Amino acid sequence: MKLGILGTGRVGQALGQRWLAAGHEVTFGTRQDLSHKEEQLSELFGQSVKTLSHDHCIAHAEALVLAMPWQAAQELTPKLPQENCPILIDCLNPLSPDLSGLVVPAGSSTAEILQDRLPHASVVKAFNCASSGTLADPSYPEAKPTMLFCGNHEDANTTVQSLIEEVGFEAVDVGDLSMASHLESLALLTIKMAIKHRWGANCALKILTRTSES
Ligand SMILES: NC(=O)c1ccc[n+]([C@@H]2O[C@H](COP(=O)([O-])OP(=O)(O)OC[C@H]3O[C@@H](n4cnc5c(N)ncnc54)[C@H](OP(=O)(O)O)[C@@H]3O)[C@@H](O)[C@H]2O)c1
Repeated sequence: MKLGILGTGRVGQALGQRWLAAGHEVTFGTRQDLSHKEEQLSELFGQSVKTLSHDHCIAHAEALVLAMPWQAAQELTPKLPQENCPILIDCLNPLSPDLSGLVVPAGSSTAEILQDRLPHASVVKAFNCASSGTLADPSYPEAKPTMLFCGNHEDANTTVQSLIEEVGFEAVDVGDLSMASHLESLALLTIKMAIKHRWGANCALKILTRTSES
């Protein structure tokens, strides 16, 4: 699949590396000098990496990850096509700088704001409740970590479910996009918990299930 990752920071690099390993055609959209960034990422990944301007990355992709700060993603939204928009994977956490809360209106979410602005796009909220360290290396001794995701469009959800599984998580669909605000709050909770217990990036969520007989 042609995957575009807008942003070459911690999350972009982690997802890009996992999807390249899974055999996808990954391009990075960056504001930086393209050849310099391409060289930097290729060296880091130990394989050839393609970088493009945001416009070209958007035009090239079947699915796009917004791997940048929320403010930057809002500024980028006008560049996204209203018709035939790639699937938009929203991993954004709109955290206030002091981590006291979220900067989106209460009960809303970045994913719903994006979906409102791009009514013909398929926005899927995913990858926001795991640290970039866990995205880069999701191996935990006890079990596979869980990635919760949500979205309004079944086809896009199915695609993103596979992309989550390819990164190395168990994917759990938590419903339509109205659940995204809960995922953003859950990310904040997870970050605060990791800080309190000094877990750093070495913690992940896991949903346990059992049959009623057991
Ligand atoms: N870090 C985590 O553990 C984690 C986990 C889950 C979700 N998230 C969320 O994922 C998103 C990315 O986080 P991150 O940790 O990868 O951030 P990061 O390491 O700071 O990287 C963000 C990237 O976004 C691009 N960017 C920064 N400012 C921009 C601007 N004004 N306009 C356009 N592009 C800009 C830059 O790429 P270029 O310089 O190449 O353009 C930058 O490398 C955030 O919304 C964050 O809340 C983070």
